[in-house]
Amino acid sequence: MTRTPTREDKFSFGLWTVGWNAQDQFGSASRPELDPVESVHRLAELGAAHVTFHDDDVVPFGSSAADRDRILERFKGALAETGITVEMVTTNTFSHPIFKDGAFTSNDRRVRRYGLRKVVRNVDLAAELGADTFVMWGGREGAEYDSAKDLYAAHERYAEGIDTVAAYIKEKGYGLRIAIEPKPNEPRGDILLPTIGHALGLIAKLEHGDIVGLNPETGHEQMAGLNYTTGIAQALWAGKLFHIDLNGQRSIKYDQDLVFGHGDLFSAFATVDLVENGFPAGGPRYDGPRHFDYKPSRTEDIAGVWESARANMATYLLLKERAQAFRADPEVQAALEESGVLELAQPTLGEGETLADLLADRSAFEDFDVEGVAARGFGFVRLNQLALEHAIGAR
Ligand code: GCO
Ligand code: MN
Ligand code: MN
Repeated sequence: MTRTPTREDKFSFGLWTVGWNAQDQFGSASRPELDPVESVHRLAELGAAHVTFHDDDVVPFGSSAADRDRILERFKGALAETGITVEMVTTNTFSHPIFKDGAFTSNDRRVRRYGLRKVVRNVDLAAELGADTFVMWGGREGAEYDSAKDLYAAHERYAEGIDTVAAYIKEKGYGLRIAIEPKPNEPRGDILLPTIGHALGLIAKLEHGDIVGLNPETGHEQMAGLNYTTGIAQALWAGKLFHIDLNGQRSIKYDQDLVFGHGDLFSAFATVDLVENGFPAGGPRYDGPRHFDYKPSRTEDIAGVWESARANMATYLLLKERAQAFRADPEVQAALEESGVLELAQPTLGEGETLADLLADRSAFEDFDVEGVAARGFGFVRLNQLALEHAIGAR
């Protein structure tokens, strides 16, 4: 049975997702370009609440000022008619050849200055449309060859670019936060800020890092062989999970951008469980849009595009139901208890206890039954089987 989404589900789609005409490295487009205005209407009918876009998705690169105004007026008309809102805006600093060596980290200073101008102009548009997140995916910020970059200077310039934009947002008083989107490779051989952890490391060094966080994408972490749920958990712990890009990826290979759940389904279950139910013993929650950044496969026609958009939302809602059942199951609660999952929330030192107290506690070391406690089984396999049975609807 398919589940029907409503606006309360906060589903959001990039206009470049359904709008992709399926041109790839090896072949020409297999579908016509979609009019963004039509996409807004279709996504509204399907139950989405928001859309997101790159500047160039709506206003073609190089449009005159007059054309830009006209296109944006028409686009705003579609938003008003449908009640769809723009929650996030991002900048295309990767398609045009001017950005072939990156924008913020191009070796050519003129390109860096041009890139910064393009991004800042787009920040103004994001604020005007009422978005709260401004994504930065540095697809071309990287290299194929280690000799091609002064990697110290590249990180300096990356930080400079992000800090300059963050300072501008503050100066203007815009209600925007920047969300960096990591990706390990593709289109560059190696991309700077390849994973969530790398991005967190850079943010910690920024002057205006308080309004800079993350937009992790499922497939991008999985391309690096990493666990997406663990990654967004660390971002949440750090107070930096500003946005999410949900999609599907089947193991370490090119960026597949499949429908959410069409890659590693069991991992998708864990992601939905965390997003919808939070950490088992409480903690920070993500309550932003459930944003899909996928590509309708090249094999699909236009009907297949809308079918695939629907599939993202239906899969998410099915997994949400399964994840809620998982948490509500008394057997699962008992298994969580038995596995010590809930005990992990208990601080290792007692309240007011010092390290000196621990050193004096003979029961913690000298008289500790190391062999006896080491013999404990944690029962994680049973717990995982319960999760699996819930995930596939067998319980
Ligand atoms: C990718 C990326 C991009 C970015 C988007 C935002 O698949 O490599 O997901 O789609 O999310 O361009 O800037
Ligand atoms: Mn991707
Ligand atoms: Mn993305």
